[in-house]
Amino acid sequence: MRKLLSGHRLVAVITLESSDDAVPLAKALVAGGLCALEVTLRTDAAVEGVSNIIREVPEAIVGTGTVCTTQQVALSEDLGCSYMVSPGATNELLEAGQRASIPLLPGVSTVSEMMNGMQFGYRDFKFFPAGACGGVTFLKSLQGPFPAVQFCPTGGVGVHNIGEYLALPNVLAVGGSWIAPVGLIRDKRWDEIENLARDAVALCT
Ligand code: 3PG
Repeated sequence: MRKLLSGHRLVAVITLESSDDAVPLAKALVAGGLCALEVTLRTDAAVEGVSNIIREVPEAIVGTGTVCTTQQVALSEDLGCSYMVSPGATNELLEAGQRASIPLLPGVSTVSEMMNGMQFGYRDFKFFPAGACGGVTFLKSLQGPFPAVQFCPTGGVGVHNIGEYLALPNVLAVGGSWIAPVGLIRDKRWDEIENLARDAVALCT
């Protein structure tokens, strides 16, 4: 994940209601300078949407999100994704991620979950839901005992706190849905999404 996200400090968490929105949305985000996209597998439109983005927007670094099962791990590989993100981490999922041809960013919200993931060889984790589980303070507390571990906090991250998160040495990147709000996608307000992406990326430098 570190290599993949090198230079990309913001991941857009996307939920698609229609696969037709996938390509214009991805193009708007990329035009705004945001190339790391996580398309959540929460809707029926997700699979076709991911496929369309990979085929038509080559600048995008596309991963699946809300990966909860080993079947979704296999699906993500088959779709040609660059990475996968899970909200939590079962041992079954951690094992499937180890065997997969693309990296899995497993979700954790406690020290013990993180240590369990470390036993499977993981060093990079999604910290979810970051805001509800201690946020910046939690991550600061882990710098001493776990200097080799890096996190991508998501859940409650936004323009109000992105700078605080990115200033932490153990934060690889942050993720959030505020750059691609479902309402703006539904209304196809691609220019506004491009501006949101540009403003967010400007906060990452
Ligand atoms: C998610 O998987 O839903 C992400 O963590 C997004 O959280 P957010 O909507 O608070 O940005």
